[in-house]
Amino acid sequence: MTETNLENNRVLSGMRPTGRLHLGHYHGVLKNWVRMQEDYECFYFVADWHALTTHYDTPETMNEHVWDMVIDWLAAGVDPDKATLFIQSRVPEHAELHLLLSMVTPLRWLERVPSFKDQQKKLRDKDLSTYGFLGYPLLQSADILIYRAAHVPVGEDQVPHVELTREVARRFNYFFGRGPDFDNQVEQAIKQMGKKSARAFRDLKKQYSERGDRDAHSAAVELLGKQQNINGEQKDQLTGYLEGRGRAILPEPEALLTEAAKMPGVDGQKMSKSYGNIIALRDDPKRVEQAIRVMPTDPARVRLTDPGDPDKCPVWPLHQIYSSDDTKTWVRDGCRSAAFGCLECKKPLIRKILEEQEQIQDRARPYENNRAMVRDVIEQGNRRAREAAMQTMEIVRDAVGTTYT
Ligand code: TRP
Ligand code: SF4
Repeated sequence: MTETNLENNRVLSGMRPTGRLHLGHYHGVLKNWVRMQEDYECFYFVADWHALTTHYDTPETMNEHVWDMVIDWLAAGVDPDKATLFIQSRVPEHAELHLLLSMVTPLRWLERVPSFKDQQKKLRDKDLSTYGFLGYPLLQSADILIYRAAHVPVGEDQVPHVELTREVARRFNYFFGRGPDFDNQVEQAIKQMGKKSARAFRDLKKQYSERGDRDAHSAAVELLGKQQNINGEQKDQLTGYLEGRGRAILPEPEALLTEAAKMPGVDGQKMSKSYGNIIALRDDPKRVEQAIRVMPTDPARVRLTDPGDPDKCPVWPLHQIYSSDDTKTWVRDGCRSAAFGCLECKKPLIRKILEEQEQIQDRARPYENNRAMVRDVIEQGNRRAREAAMQTMEIVRDAVGTTYT
């Protein structure tokens, strides 16, 4: 947990609507989302505005892509009774916070985010020297900060965006966190802790600010966590005071790095829609079977009697994801001794993948047959998300001085 986020276990993550998802998404991201919904208060959303920053030229694909993706989430086991599922643009407060964050975000912070130049190079056929695209990571910061989320599960490529979010939150808190009454409120809260705790807190604060003593900082945070006589807001305030800045209006989130499963596509390269090598979550079983049957293997295995090496075979990583230890041993031994051919080796794999697909597709079916059910899930999620976002915006508007009384 971060220094500034004592009170919540909220998780937030989003995905751009790129249409139907594939096994790479499933094993890399969705299984993790499903796990997290058990232990955290999860918000998962469709980043439709983010999609528009690069795909502003194909608005007609948005509708289908959004619903396809949401159905895939549900099919993967994301449970709308446990997690809040919503669409970014249905919570317009994200845009308001994005705008307010932009007031204190130096241009160079955005220009140096690696994805900015990388994507411009990669998508060279598109004009991405736009205001919207430069703001992509700041919009992401608003997505995160508006829920005051503590954890953001993301892949490695997104870590710089969470880092930026932390810096922006700090700067925002620095400018707007110190209301005119801050000093009085801090004094009041310290007194409220009781004599003994108050003295201990002041001592630790002194050690931390005068000598930069990290242990004193941890001890002070722990002390605050234990206090019964002050509320969460006061704890935020005192943490801000401890760290020499204002109250943490927007707490700093932490990236939870998702260990991306190395999912090869059916041609052995990384599975990706742009390579045309995917197995979709809701794919046709016949096509799946055929695609794996013709998947390339270790080129050394020309004839049935030629031994091979799983480490040189694109099918092996799939066994590592899907197969039991026994099966893996069987594969390794049989491949090296040429005890069986590649088709034989692929059979248990095909069986496992088709089993997995069946379960996923069973879950998808009621939603596929009834779009209204999907819309209901999202509408409910939109409402819940909006409520949480509006709460933060009240504090934020107050802090930036735009509540006129
Ligand atoms: N940029 C993310 C991606 O491309 C999607 C995203 C938008 C996101 N807002 C977010 C992810 C907030 C996590 C938190 O994958
Ligand atoms: Fe790959 Fe299995 Fe063939 Fe070995 S036997 S090359 S692991 S498919």
